[in-house]
Amino acid sequence: MSDLKDQIAVVTGASSGIGKACCYALAKAGVAVCLLGRNINELKKIESEIREYSPLSKAVKVDLFNDDEISEAVSLIKNEYGAVHILVHSAGIYSVGKVKEAPVQDFDDQYKINVRAPYFLTQQLLSLIDKSLGQIVFINSTVVMAAKSNLSQYCATKSALKALADSLRIEINTEGIRVLTIYPGRTATPMQEDICKHEGIAYNAETMIQPEQVAKLLVSSLKMPRDAEITDITVRPMNAA
Ligand SMILES: NC(=O)c1ccc[n+]([C@@H]2O[C@H](COP(=O)([O-])OP(=O)(O)OC[C@H]3O[C@@H](n4cnc5c(N)ncnc54)[C@H](OP(=O)(O)O)[C@@H]3O)[C@@H](O)[C@H]2O)c1
Repeated sequence: MSDLKDQIAVVTGASSGIGKACCYALAKAGVAVCLLGRNINELKKIESEIREYSPLSKAVKVDLFNDDEISEAVSLIKNEYGAVHILVHSAGIYSVGKVKEAPVQDFDDQYKINVRAPYFLTQQLLSLIDKSLGQIVFINSTVVMAAKSNLSQYCATKSALKALADSLRIEINTEGIRVLTIYPGRTATPMQEDICKHEGIAYNAETMIQPEQVAKLLVSSLKMPRDAEITDITVRPMNAA
C-alpha cells in the first residue's frame, strides 16, 4: 500500500460527520489536513486535536455559498502548502419536500453546495494538485442508485455530482490524478439525525454506518498502489435491506 505520510489534504465539511471523521483518519495517516467549513470554533477544536498527529493541519473558515471566500481559501492553501495531494468533498446539504411543493430556492441552495461548490473548488485547486500523487474524492450518496420520494432535489444534485466526478476522471486521469466517488447509505451524523426527524423515525445511530468506517474506507482506497484506481465505492449499513 502507498504511504500518505507528509501529503497535504483539503477536506470540505470538515466540521461535522463524515468530513470530520476523514480529517482524523487522514491526520493519523500522517497527512497535513486543511479543514474547510463555516463553524470555525469546531474546526479549531478538531485542528488542535489532529495536530498531535499532523502538526501542519489548519482550520480555514469558508462559506461554500461564496465564491470569493472559496478563492481566498485557495490562495491561503497555495501560500501555506504550495501543493495539494488529496481533495475530499464532503460538505453537503439536503432538504425535503415533494416536487409539487418544495421551494425552488431549496433546490438552488443544494445545487450550490452539493454540485457547484465542488466544481468551483476543484477548478480553483486543480493547478495545485500533485500530478503524480493527486487524488480527488467526492462523498456522494446511495440515493444516486435509488432515488427517494420527498428528496428529489437532493437526489438530483447527487446524480449531478456523480456526473461531475465521472467527467473529471476522464479529463485528469491522463495527468496522473485519480478520482474516487464514495456512495454511503445511512451514516450516523447530524445530517442523518435530522433526516430521521423529518421522516418521523427514531434515530438509531448503532444501526447505521459509523462515519469512522467511511473515513477508514477513504484512507485505505487512497493508499491503493498507483497502478490501479478505485472509481466508485458503495457502502451501506449491514442489514440495510
Ligand atoms: N449522513 C448520511 O447518512 C449520508 C449518507 C449519504 C451521503 N451523505 C453525504 O455525506 C456528506 C457529509 O454529510 P454528513 O452526514 O457528514 O453531514 P453533516 O454532519 O451535516 O456535515 C455537513 C458538513 O457540510 C458543511 N457545510 C454545509 N453547508 C456549508 C457551507 N455553506 N459552506 C461550507 N460548508 C458547509 C458543514 O460545515 P459547517 O456547518 O461548518 O459550514 C458540515 O461540516 C454530504 O455530502 C452528504 O450528502 C451523508
